[in-house]
Amino acid sequence: MDTRRAVLDGLRDGPVSGPALADDLGVSRAAVWKAVESLREEGFAVESTPDGYVAPTDPGYSAAGIEFGLDAPYAVEYHDQIPSTNDRGRELAATGETDVAVVADEQTGGRGRLGREFVAPSGGVWLSIVARPTVSPARAPLFTLAASVAAADASRAAGVDARIKWPNDLLVGGESAPANDAGSRASDATEHSDPTGRGGRKLAGILTEMEGEADRVSWIVVGIGVNANIDAETLPTDATSLRAELGADVDRRQFVATLLERFHDLTATDDGLDQVLPAWRERASTLGGRVRVETPGGSVVGTAVDVEPPGALVIETEDGTRRVHAGDCEHLRDAER
Ligand code: BTN
Repeated sequence: MDTRRAVLDGLRDGPVSGPALADDLGVSRAAVWKAVESLREEGFAVESTPDGYVAPTDPGYSAAGIEFGLDAPYAVEYHDQIPSTNDRGRELAATGETDVAVVADEQTGGRGRLGREFVAPSGGVWLSIVARPTVSPARAPLFTLAASVAAADASRAAGVDARIKWPNDLLVGGESAPANDAGSRASDATEHSDPTGRGGRKLAGILTEMEGEADRVSWIVVGIGVNANIDAETLPTDATSLRAELGADVDRRQFVATLLERFHDLTATDDGLDQVLPAWRERASTLGGRVRVETPGGSVVGTAVDVEPPGALVIETEDGTRRVHAGDCEHLRDAER
């Protein structure tokens, strides 16, 4: 761990003196002083008190602010504005970096799935996690599912009940099937509370990119975009934001920390990866409902009954069971069923 991060960690438990930090970290006092100065230059206003160094009361939405108190080994690279955190993540991955979270307040060239543009104004949570996992490419889709679980959990911790639409959108509102009733239809009612008729309003999306060989992943960049502190009026009618749902802003620093910690728990070990699908199923709004998935081979309509490793949606159709691995998924209204 570098001295800067070690100093940030050392500041977690209240005032700590420079000499005590230097002893604990096994570095010189000058190295501690240099790290404190560099944190201050970044805007993380470490105070000097008679009892020692003290972290600022408001750590701020910045690299040091997010790393402060973070229980996951990611180094954060923060940008006020950047074309795309995924593009930057790919650059870092290409130079051999790993365990970096690129975070931006605003993206000017955000990218969505299927080559689409992704609008990402100031106030959102736009971030890309760079990892070099020792897994086969076949398990890589689990990282996308883990990101949707992590983003759902961070949203819930912030007070917004977000559910996952296969493969990786987060939605708020709308009807959803009971998680333990995945084999049946969500509802036979013709009336429902879904404001969009599409399973709710979109809160977040995920774009995963990777490079690998036949038997191993070289790097993976998981890009997560959450409409956080964004006005509802500036969003498309089928989208929502944390601000719109809560009527107040969320602490993006806390949100990102929760998301990164959860993502790390789910992806850092084989045990974690084994938990991804069950956790995804529990948070899914797609299972048990009628769907239409536009796949490269045509559209598949039926009841979504399960998600199978490494992330295929299992659909019961009139012609039998189909497994789809990629595509745009639409939750169907009763009238369309
Ligand atoms: C989608 O809904 O189509 C996926 C959207 C993914 C957006 C995120 S925001 C952070 C990262 N950087 C990008 O350019 N895209 C992803």
